[in-house]
Amino acid sequence: MSRKRTAVLISGRGSNMAALVKAAQREDFPARIDLVLSNKADAAGIEFAASHGVPTRVLSHRGYADRQAFDEALDGVLREEGIEIVCLAGFMRLLTPWLVEQWKDRMINVHPSILPSFKGLHTHERALEMGVRVHGCTVHFVRAEMDAGPIILQAVVPIEADDTPDTLAARVLTQEHIIYPRGLELLAAGRLSVVDERVRIADTRPGPAPLIAPTV
Ligand code: GAR
Repeated sequence: MSRKRTAVLISGRGSNMAALVKAAQREDFPARIDLVLSNKADAAGIEFAASHGVPTRVLSHRGYADRQAFDEALDGVLREEGIEIVCLAGFMRLLTPWLVEQWKDRMINVHPSILPSFKGLHTHERALEMGVRVHGCTVHFVRAEMDAGPIILQAVVPIEADDTPDTLAARVLTQEHIIYPRGLELLAAGRLSVVDERVRIADTRPGPAPLIAPTV
């Protein structure tokens, strides 16, 4: 089996990246993490990746005149490394439509909400403010619009009466660490197709395709 060369893009903590690196340690995992790239030199995740033998790069956006110039440099690095799949994992940069198009249906993201609800930042605070009963996370293909794109997997987390943004974030994060590796696995195994901007999951086993990840 040739494993898909995968890059994970981070800006900070990198816990989702760590979950992807750990999942890809499985011999039968269809993707290999060949690059962890951060736009911030002090991203904690860089150290984790290096200590797990994953090649790392720092590409600061500060040295570039504009978004397009940075994205062209980023695209250049990904091509230089022969990358086939890109996973955004807390990569806090708005991408140009140009870059998104270069990696269409080969770039995925994890977002801490049940999209299309609560795009953007502070999703846990906003979910609590709105009084919704369930919250969760989404793995999706990346499109030019922020936190939008065909949905691959979602996990649902019930909201408890005494939840704070932190307790809720922690429960959602646990689910992110489950569904993100699973989403990458499905993509790298060639089991995903996008039809009319909706994702179809080809199942190799009998029974219905797992459209929704197991909940807590
Ligand atoms: C994660 O919760 C991820 O879902 C979120 O940033 C966090 C990064 O944490 N991403 C977004 O909000 C994207 N819109 P991590 O660095 O520990 O993976």
